Amino acid sequence: MSDHNQVKMTEMNYDKDRPAAENPVKIEDLSLRDGHQSLFATRGRTEDMIPVAEMMDEVGFWAVETWGGATFDTMHRFLNEDPWERIRTLKRYLKKTPFSMLLRAQNLVGYRNYADDVANAFMDRACENGMDIFRTFDALNDYRNFQTVVPKIKEYGKHFQGCICYTMTEPRLGGNVYNLDYYVKKGKELEAMGADSICVKDMAGLIAPYDAYAVVKALKDSVKPPINLHSHFTSGMSPLSHLKAIEAGVDIIDTCMSPYAYRTAHAAIEPLVMALLGTNRDTGFDIKLLARINEVLEKEVMPKYRHLLDDSKMSIIDINVLLHQTPGGMLSNLVNQLREMDALDKIGDVYRELPRVRKELGQIPLVTPTSQIVGIQTVNNVLFDDENERYKMITGQVKDLCYGLYGKTAVPIDKEVQKKALQGYERGEEPITCRPAEVLEPELEKAKEEIADLAVDLDDLVLYAIYPVTGRKFLKWKYGKEQPPKEVLPRTMEEARAEEELVRKAKAGKLVEIVKEAPAKGENTRTFNVFIDNEYYEVGVDEVGGAPMVSYVQPMAGQMPMTPPAAPTPQPAAPAAAAPAPAAPAKEEAPAAPAPADTPEGTPLTAPMPGMIVSYEKKVGDTISQGETLVVLEAMKMENALPSPASGTVKAINFSSGDSVAKNDVLAVVG
Ligand code: CO
Repeated sequence: MSDHNQVKMTEMNYDKDRPAAENPVKIEDLSLRDGHQSLFATRGRTEDMIPVAEMMDEVGFWAVETWGGATFDTMHRFLNEDPWERIRTLKRYLKKTPFSMLLRAQNLVGYRNYADDVANAFMDRACENGMDIFRTFDALNDYRNFQTVVPKIKEYGKHFQGCICYTMTEPRLGGNVYNLDYYVKKGKELEAMGADSICVKDMAGLIAPYDAYAVVKALKDSVKPPINLHSHFTSGMSPLSHLKAIEAGVDIIDTCMSPYAYRTAHAAIEPLVMALLGTNRDTGFDIKLLARINEVLEKEVMPKYRHLLDDSKMSIIDINVLLHQTPGGMLSNLVNQLREMDALDKIGDVYRELPRVRKELGQIPLVTPTSQIVGIQTVNNVLFDDENERYKMITGQVKDLCYGLYGKTAVPIDKEVQKKALQGYERGEEPITCRPAEVLEPELEKAKEEIADLAVDLDDLVLYAIYPVTGRKFLKWKYGKEQPPKEVLPRTMEEARAEEELVRKAKAGKLVEIVKEAPAKGENTRTFNVFIDNEYYEVGVDEVGGAPMVSYVQPMAGQMPMTPPAAPTPQPAAPAAAAPAPAAPAKEEAPAAPAPADTPEGTPLTAPMPGMIVSYEKKVGDTISQGETLVVLEAMKMENALPSPASGTVKAINFSSGDSVAKNDVLAVVG
């Protein structure tokens, strides 16, 4: 900023004659949770929140959101950070402003309903670690799933904010399911449960300004608790909806600091502060303080995360959400999933199938975890169904949903789909109608036994109970039993700067490829086959004095490992332009899968999609019949039971729980 601008800022003296507002709009800041979750895949690290934490505490926010399901998951899985520790650390810097968390009711911070003993333990630990406001939602708006967590919130004297997930079946508010009456009825249910405030949770940014007005007005007229509007910017409507909600008397609005705002995140606070300046809803916030916070974020924090921002488009608005009501996060998940499966051309089919699957599964709102449940099942249907059979590969979660384990859907689930999903379902083929947790056996004692070697305290135990596979991995890193992999280490400012510098040079045309003349190939050159993802390279290594020297790299045609090309494709030139042609001609075809020499004979079970192994249901030597579940594979957080391709004995098991696998990897062999 130039000196000239600095002077202007102070001269402007916008505070002069600013009266205290009669009814200031209260603001919940989302930058430290939903903001970076929406823009940077929840990768924000605690160390990058600390530089602004004390200043944020001075703004006067009604609450700062610091935690939620995705933070809990991402932190231990991808950041090697203890999610419990984040609350404790941030509390040391934000001493005045209440902390808010997004709680998935009986789903806690996971993707399914947990047993009551786990829910109680989680709530005890969340309250004791310092959480103040529990923004509680259920993906089906089935408030029976609140019955365990809410008494805990009350027991600790904390704030219970009940959510109504905002969803639609029409382009605007209305229709027979999610109409104004529905929202008023839900608001009354929450009030009756003792809600200290009620949040209209518009996770996809679908609420149109006049609908926001209607919903807020109707709620203000029919219930007493303060009303909070949470809306994502995704469609571009949220700043307009905020203003109309304010006119309708909304009490609390959610925003982000501007570096974390817009796109699939939320409207920024700064324009709202200025828009309300001097009115009877003036926030009273100091715009200069907000500017100082932004400067720190822009200079000291954002450079480390820029690479995670999807800036492939000019537009910051996602038009698809207006056309298909597919929330931004869900859309990027679907695109990634299709890309990994080499099926990106099917995205149009996915858009067409999605509303159908949603309707068949009870017209449920699309929010974690139901957005994943509907999204992944849709992908499965598009990829694996044929004209004779739909729902060929049903995920474990869809089966649970059909059984009633997530709760009651807005409209009944399609009878045929339900029947098919529950065929041979382990809990029974007849769906339940009671509160889901009533049929869940206690889980905590079993978890305690399983993780006794690693869990030191209750926080560790609860983390493991919710995330057994990745939780165990994390606890090994936490207690030094295993070295955390490089990917979970923080990106430093130096790395970010070095990369920026490279990009700058490249744009200025100053990056010149240095082509060194390769030395002649020595007598002792050894040839190695190297497999990287789906590519195969033949590499010659020639040892010269100290370190071995790579003398040529020859990319091989064809996809690894299961689909050798039908006809040899022309070999691309070796990347090192001046490398001598390899003496041994590159093989015409990629060799067979990189299998050990002792691969047993039999029928392989290959991964139909990339994912993480949850468990093998059998051991080597066990007998299995065709169709029986052999492997449970997690893809996009959904579990897929993979059936044995043949009857016989399990001859080989090639991975273990927690391993990541690529599409077509041989997971096991049955013979
Ligand atoms: Co949100």
